[in-house]
Amino acid sequence: MRTALVTGAARRIGRAVATHLANSGFEVAVHCHRSVAEGEALVGSLQEAGHSAFAVTGDLSDEHACQNIVAQVLTRTKHLDVLVQSASTFTEDSVMSFSYADLEGHIKVNAFAPLILARAFAGRLHGGSIIHFLDSRVVDYDAQHASYHLSKRVFDAVTRMLAVELAPDVRVNAIAPGLILPPKGLGNAYVEMRKQEVPLKRQGTLDEICLAVDFLMANGFVTGQTIFVDGGRHLKGAFYG
Ligand SMILES: NC(=O)c1ccc[n+]([C@@H]2O[C@H](COP(=O)([O-])OP(=O)(O)OC[C@H]3O[C@@H](n4cnc5c(N)ncnc54)[C@H](OP(=O)(O)O)[C@@H]3O)[C@@H](O)[C@H]2O)c1
Repeated sequence: MRTALVTGAARRIGRAVATHLANSGFEVAVHCHRSVAEGEALVGSLQEAGHSAFAVTGDLSDEHACQNIVAQVLTRTKHLDVLVQSASTFTEDSVMSFSYADLEGHIKVNAFAPLILARAFAGRLHGGSIIHFLDSRVVDYDAQHASYHLSKRVFDAVTRMLAVELAPDVRVNAIAPGLILPPKGLGNAYVEMRKQEVPLKRQGTLDEICLAVDFLMANGFVTGQTIFVDGGRHLKGAFYG
């Protein structure tokens, strides 16, 4: 059976990808941090549906916890076919206001932890694939989430570096979502406002994210690539602020 680890899988996009992979026949390691109850409930519902799944926990801002996530996975399975790195921290700040701790917090979770997990699993991913979640704003400038933005730029660089370093055994690609789900605490009004900025004039769906995951898993001649699933939003090259 093919095996996948999805980080940040208890909720939202990570949950949709984990569910999709389970429905596609993967054994899925559902990583969660604070949402342990939701992660375990997802594992329970996948198992009830006849799928194979287990939960792993850990704070991605802590290097030892990252190593422990690896250990938790490897006690259950000796190899991985797919590593999906969806977990992310996202808070508002600006270049002029963010503290060293804000920047460090974003870069640790959004770029260093995925690098540590990718390195740790590289030797167990023969013929496998790593998929990173960037953000369509990575090519623009998100002035209202400056330390998050910088961390995703680092993650973009990490993706390209790993694509070279882990070839030919492992392919490393990214998905850059646009308007898929509103940030936590924001609802339909946010989506309606942001839709107007999207060339395709709509919000993307979780199924459209999963289609990109399927393409990146299936196409063996694609590495170091980023697919923008954003209705063309990145083409407008804007200052978000
Ligand atoms: N939603 C969108 O429309 C959109 C747009 C652009 C880019 N993206 C990118 O797509 C990915 C998924 O988006 P999303 O909206 O589903 O993400 P999200 O809800 O912001 O975060 C996903 C998960 O990340 C985990 N996480 C945060 N800090 C962590 C830490 N210190 N250690 C371990 N896990 C941690 C959380 O897990 P727990 O709850 O278990 O703590 C959280 O549920 C992210 O990388 C995001 O940047 C999403």
